Amino acid sequence: MKVSVVGTGYVGLVTGACLAEMGNDVLCLDVDPNKIRILEEGGIPIHEPGLDKVVERNVKAGRLSFTTDIARAVAHGTIQFIAVGTPPDEDGSADLQYVLAAARNIGRLMTDYKVIVDKSTVPVGTADKVRAAVADELAKRGSDVKYAVVSNPEFLKEGAAVDDFMRPDRIVVGADDEQAILLMRALYAPFQRNHERLIVMDVRSAELTKYAANAMLATRISFMNELALLAEKMGADIEQVRLGIGSDQRIGTHFLYAGCGYGGSCFPKDVKALIKTAHGADQELLVLKAVEDANERQKTVLVSKVVKRFGADLKGKHFALWGLAFKPNTDDMREATSRVVLAELFERGATVTAYDPVAMEEARRIFGNDAHLSYADSPNAALQGADALIIVTEWKEFRSPDFDKIKASLKTPVIFDGRNLYEPSLVKQAGLSYESIGRQAV
Ligand SMILES: NC(=O)c1ccc[n+]([C@@H]2O[C@H](COP(=O)([O-])OP(=O)(O)OC[C@H]3O[C@@H](n4cnc5c(N)ncnc54)[C@H](O)[C@@H]3O)[C@@H](O)[C@H]2O)c1
Repeated sequence: MKVSVVGTGYVGLVTGACLAEMGNDVLCLDVDPNKIRILEEGGIPIHEPGLDKVVERNVKAGRLSFTTDIARAVAHGTIQFIAVGTPPDEDGSADLQYVLAAARNIGRLMTDYKVIVDKSTVPVGTADKVRAAVADELAKRGSDVKYAVVSNPEFLKEGAAVDDFMRPDRIVVGADDEQAILLMRALYAPFQRNHERLIVMDVRSAELTKYAANAMLATRISFMNELALLAEKMGADIEQVRLGIGSDQRIGTHFLYAGCGYGGSCFPKDVKALIKTAHGADQELLVLKAVEDANERQKTVLVSKVVKRFGADLKGKHFALWGLAFKPNTDDMREATSRVVLAELFERGATVTAYDPVAMEEARRIFGNDAHLSYADSPNAALQGADALIIVTEWKEFRSPDFDKIKASLKTPVIFDGRNLYEPSLVKQAGLSYESIGRQAV
């Protein structure tokens, strides 16, 4: 099938590459010429495990190409995926300007039947807006070319995006056009050969499903984070509580980890957008508002612990920070807890040397030449001369460190761990103090 993907970011590039892998002829469009140049030169503009190989293989096979030429992209695909960003607007609602600009481009230039697929995460009712934007452009030039608008939200996780796309738990298709449903079934058939995973529903339900999924996952995290704060005060251990409740099949073990707050490009903005949608419909989401508040508070927990130990004025203090990305296996720092931690430390006068296996370039882009922040090329190098170690991201390479080395390198042998990576008794045995989330300090 001929497929165009509008927006070549985390979702668009993975979608395009994986569809090409199944034999489709895919053209990816982006308005960012720099991204397209990197891809045309054989590079990958983002860090996503395994993606480089899929892209390389399919470019070589002639099934995957990249362009900034809108007319070429509109002409190419019968199926037009819209996978552009939907960042939060000032009031927290999803900013649809990129989605609607993409829709208008398609409407302005299409000359034959198109299935326009919203893959971006968009509020309920957006498909109607996309349909109207396309209709408006067609009317302007007196065209009656047929088209369908489909909602096909994406559930991939950054860091495991290729696997998630290739082996999806489910594929949600919101559509009311029979021809479009047939095409979507055919397009996704290779991804579900041993198990039917495609769920066809009405467009609005599909749009809401994506927000509902992220809201539920964010809720689990904030719930555990709140309980963790209580566990600390009550002399309990959240990790034991987690095992105790996770073994209940109705609860399950996934997404039940306490930590220093969720970040990333999806949960924070999608939770905000759903709250806003509900507010607009005069149907307040009380639980979700609390989920968001709890997460904001949780991002400050690590620095509160630092302040408790070192005092509110951190002038002259220097910290090692392990992890900048909002989670492991990605370079994405959108809404990452590290940003809140760094901002608070800087405000209190501290300096930081950070290490992250892949996100340091992104951090340099965000923080520029901020004199408070320097970078190390290994976890151990970051420790040199630091008063204490703060861990924000649970990268695998942080899981079994040499505690003796950490102790020898730090001025005050203390670790503030936002991801509960270590067994407290082991850290204590090595002569270090250890403060984690929802467990007693040792
Ligand atoms: N990142 C994730 O893990 C994830 C997962 C599921 C869903 N989503 C959703 O998918 C959407 C895209 O997210 P992302 O993380 O891939 O964003 P991204 O910022 O990585 O990529 C978006 C791309 O769209 C391009 N773009 C903007 N306007 C354009 C236009 N008119 N024409 C062509 N290209 C245009 C941008 O230059 C950018 O490269 C969002 O709605 C997001 O909520 C993201």
